[in-house]
Amino acid sequence: MSKQLTVFGSFFEDLCGRGPYLPKPGETLIGSKFTYGPGGKGSNQAVAAKRAGADVTMITKIGKDPYGDLMLAFYKEEKIHSDYVFVDHDNPTGIALILVDENTAENAILVAPGACHNITPEDMEKAKEQIMKSDLLITQLEVNMDATFQAIKTAHENNVKVILNPAPAVKLSNDIYKMIDYITPNETEAEILTGHKTDTITNIRKAASWLYDKGVSNVIITLGKEGVYIRNNEFDEIVPSFKVKAVDTTGAGDAFNGCLAVALLEGKNLWQAARFANAGAALSVTKIGTAPSMAYRRQIDELIE
Ligand code: RIB
Repeated sequence: MSKQLTVFGSFFEDLCGRGPYLPKPGETLIGSKFTYGPGGKGSNQAVAAKRAGADVTMITKIGKDPYGDLMLAFYKEEKIHSDYVFVDHDNPTGIALILVDENTAENAILVAPGACHNITPEDMEKAKEQIMKSDLLITQLEVNMDATFQAIKTAHENNVKVILNPAPAVKLSNDIYKMIDYITPNETEAEILTGHKTDTITNIRKAASWLYDKGVSNVIITLGKEGVYIRNNEFDEIVPSFKVKAVDTTGAGDAFNGCLAVALLEGKNLWQAARFANAGAALSVTKIGTAPSMAYRRQIDELIE
């Protein structure tokens, strides 16, 4: 039987506009293109992992509305298990308003989490059995924190390895770090978590040491075009990125995390897993969109070769 990845996190409908730059506060700017489609960090990571080769179950919550229906249809198409997609009758499916600068490929995102901020203890009780039988759990910080804490705790107590992608970053309590096996902040998130600047490699190392000393045995700080810095008891180095022409960096971190999970499930070491994930992230930025831009296994293997 293939290894089981459970993703606990957000599904949002992404409403995305592209324009010549990101508008300033109070400014109205004529853009060039509008797209919409499935997003949310958790869901994007599920799609990236599924396309890269894992058997994926998603735990999330949607509203009883057309965006929720679109999501379920999308999961059917992608063959992602949706038995633990809970439906909220009081709150709508979350949405993300995304602006992309078509010159730099950078973005700004505002999220209205809707149902994803209403994952209840009853939902978590139902989801427990799925987390317990997984080989790996990956989660982020885009759904309500008490539910996220519960998911991590259930995994940890049942010897299921945990990847935490701490996005969007908030200060975390010490007891969470002890339950995490892999943490994957970007530079900004690492600064928020640790209080250390991440402007130089020396400072990035300090931030990574802070996380390592809190009890996270594998620290991975993503550095955008520069690649990723990895730190565990075997590695302390940068794994370089693949050079590609970026058109949209939205979701690149999600591509990285989903692919990292697949590589770890396949038994790759941290360096090999980071390289595999770098390839997935690089391919994702060559396409517009979030979930739809995730790469397939064949493409990742080709880029690595
Ligand atoms: O990481 C990109 C994602 O962040 C988008 O899909 C958006 O939904 C927000 O959650």
